[in-house]
Amino acid sequence: MSESLSDLLSRAQGELAALRTRPEFEAAKARYVGPHGELTALMKRMGTLPKEERPVFGRQVNEAKARLQAEFDSALRRIGDAELAAQLGPAVDPSLPAPDPGPGTCHPLTLVREETCRILRKVGFAVADGPEVETEFYCFDALNTPPDHPARDGQDTFYFPSGARFGNVNKRNPDERYLLRTHTSSVQIRTLLAGPPPIRIVSPGRVYRRDTSDATHSANFHQLECLAVDRNVTVRDLKALLDYLFVSLLGSATKIRFRPHYFGYTEPSFEVDLSARHLPKVNKEWIEIGGCGLVDPTVFAAVGYDPELWSGYAFGMGLERLAMLLYGIDDIRHFYQNDLRFLRQFA
Ligand code: DAH
Repeated sequence: MSESLSDLLSRAQGELAALRTRPEFEAAKARYVGPHGELTALMKRMGTLPKEERPVFGRQVNEAKARLQAEFDSALRRIGDAELAAQLGPAVDPSLPAPDPGPGTCHPLTLVREETCRILRKVGFAVADGPEVETEFYCFDALNTPPDHPARDGQDTFYFPSGARFGNVNKRNPDERYLLRTHTSSVQIRTLLAGPPPIRIVSPGRVYRRDTSDATHSANFHQLECLAVDRNVTVRDLKALLDYLFVSLLGSATKIRFRPHYFGYTEPSFEVDLSARHLPKVNKEWIEIGGCGLVDPTVFAAVGYDPELWSGYAFGMGLERLAMLLYGIDDIRHFYQNDLRFLRQFA
């Protein structure tokens, strides 16, 4: 190889090995093979050589060009690797224990759920669970909610397509549809069917409705359901339980009242209002908190209990609403955004 070519190559090798960044790389490339580059200039010399020297010189230039290209390729690869390594940061050993994140805190919904269940356990209620995917039987039919009831409308309830299959949730009849439960009252039916009475259960859990999200609505939220079944259960028993529950939860200045209402699965039915003016953020005398009543005889009949023999009460409420009251939270969306500034306030 001619001396100028091998000089150029060894100089280029040294320079390219020292390149660190893409702009440096581009500048070096222009210096050697750009229109005014050194190798380009050597190639242009071809025309000035005697004819017989040209083939040898041409071969040498091509060889030098190929070697230079290989040097460029490896410099570029090295720069790319370094860029990636800088992006990824220092190597991590995944087998090391995680850095201690400090003690976690319970979500405010967990706090009110646990506290409510604790209070109810003291008076004999066991925690019962039910699936969030339900069938129309458990969510509506057995709860005396007829097919034309507005709650069953596709505008209000999330139904699954008819082809959906859930191996762990059985349909009672092949024509009914799967849905996301709209309330925890479905657990009443599952509990009654599992029997036998007497029954005292509390069932907290997630429920779903086709609501547009705003400060007080969310397409999924949480409820808590109570069911007690025994001989000779009366509205007094129900009122006594709710007095006990809300005084324990919110303090002895708390009062509750029943307002007559209609629910298909209870008769008589009431809405429950509570008064807790001692809570700092409560600015109304009466606040609606849930629904309740005595278990309707049609519900007992649907699950094969003799309504002449058995009686009971049921109660349901939203957990978000309770937590908002208790902690003075003004927007339901805070519960779901995982903002640590919000969550750490409940530590
Ligand atoms: N399921 C009702 C709702 O989602 C709340 C409710 C009302 C539950 C009356 C009950 C009850 O157990 O007896 O709004």
